[in-house]
Amino acid sequence: MPTHTNSTLLASGHQKLAWARAHMPVHAALRGRLGQTRPFAGQTIAVCSHIEAKTGILLETLAAAGAQVVFAGSEPGSSQDDVVAALNEHPAITGYAERGVSEARLAELHRQALAHAPALILDDAAELTARLVHERPDLLTGLKGVCEQTTTGVQRIRAMLDDGALAFPAYAVNHTPMKHEFDNIHGTGESALTNLLLTTNLLLAGKQVVVAGYGDCGVGVAHKARALGAQVTVTEVEPRQALRAHMNGFAVRPMAEAAAIGEFFITVTGNREVLRREHFERMRSGAILANAGHFNVEIDAAALAELAIERYPARSGIETFRFADGREVHLLCEGRLVNLAAPTAMGHPAEVMDQTFAVQLMAAVDLWEHGATLAPGVHTVPDRVDRQIAELKLETLGIVLDEMTEAQRRFLAAWKSEELL
Ligand code: NAI
Repeated sequence: MPTHTNSTLLASGHQKLAWARAHMPVHAALRGRLGQTRPFAGQTIAVCSHIEAKTGILLETLAAAGAQVVFAGSEPGSSQDDVVAALNEHPAITGYAERGVSEARLAELHRQALAHAPALILDDAAELTARLVHERPDLLTGLKGVCEQTTTGVQRIRAMLDDGALAFPAYAVNHTPMKHEFDNIHGTGESALTNLLLTTNLLLAGKQVVVAGYGDCGVGVAHKARALGAQVTVTEVEPRQALRAHMNGFAVRPMAEAAAIGEFFITVTGNREVLRREHFERMRSGAILANAGHFNVEIDAAALAELAIERYPARSGIETFRFADGREVHLLCEGRLVNLAAPTAMGHPAEVMDQTFAVQLMAAVDLWEHGATLAPGVHTVPDRVDRQIAELKLETLGIVLDEMTEAQRRFLAAWKSEELL
């Protein structure tokens, strides 16, 4: 690569890191504390995630805590080459991530990261964890545990446990309140819609939007789409989630019906082929399909290709499929995470990732210090870890909590009738 291109790439990466650093005050505070205690001194920690600027700040903080940090991308389309280049300049950080790689190349990059024999893995979708267990069981003796940050990954590690393949403790970081009640709801909600709109340059107000899946991410997408003026239909397979969507005022329909109504479709189920041939056959011409779930299998792109008599790039990040009856359907980012793989994508807002990665980081410190007492399995992150991040976040926002009086504490701890009166 010519030197001027390299220096432009590096400058862009450092600029993005500086902006993220300035907007992640929880990490700034933790970097100061962990820089003193250096809990990971001399240890190798592998981080698998979408390698963009906010992830870079997590990596820097791990390095400040004494770790030799190795990173890899968790998804073929979501890492940013300028940030990767800038991070690789850090003396304690080594990375293996490229944007727009094939699945085979992604696997090769994961193998290179695992070759560093990490003592801990901070994972996204259990990508490094599954590969280590499956392909490098020789590394299991050195692995003290895993912190997993997303819904799909926790599900995958539970499947490993059910299969008798889990030989170490894993913290379900995704399931902490400080992660999923903010990252999945507000982070995915805002960033999925932002990138949908930037990629299409179309208006959401007044449109028919179909959100597949009303879990944490679906809640965020559906409510924020409604706030922008869209008419939102939700599809679900879980009765309580469907009821929740209904009582929150959304239309709930099976996809077979919703398919004929929607102008925008956003899948966030963590499942596969949620939009498939039978749905494409009913869609209105001009329907726009986007996915925000982890894997690019929620929209059956192969079925779209089979149905199409012609396909062409309509705009950066949009491929159009024309059917024999003249209808056209537009697929965003090959069905990959729209908030990370779209041409303008930056992932979640910095303030949200400041929280998410702080929980990942402090869960890792806790696992390092107490992991030996935990049996192999999927564990809840101790509440004190999550609460500590919430307190720190409030402090950075200048928000002050009330404190209970002694009488209130006694009241809440009482059970005898005379103590409650
Ligand atoms: P969740 O488990 O809270 O919700 C998923 C919902 O989808 C559930 O209510 C489930 O019943 C429903 N569902 C499953 N199959 C369905 C089907 N065929 N049709 C309709 N609904 C169906 O999971 P969460 O936290 O909302 O995550 C969803 C996906 O998004 C996961 O893959 C997760 O890893 C990913 N994710 C993506 C982020 C991003 O940056 N885009 C951020 C956080 C999570």
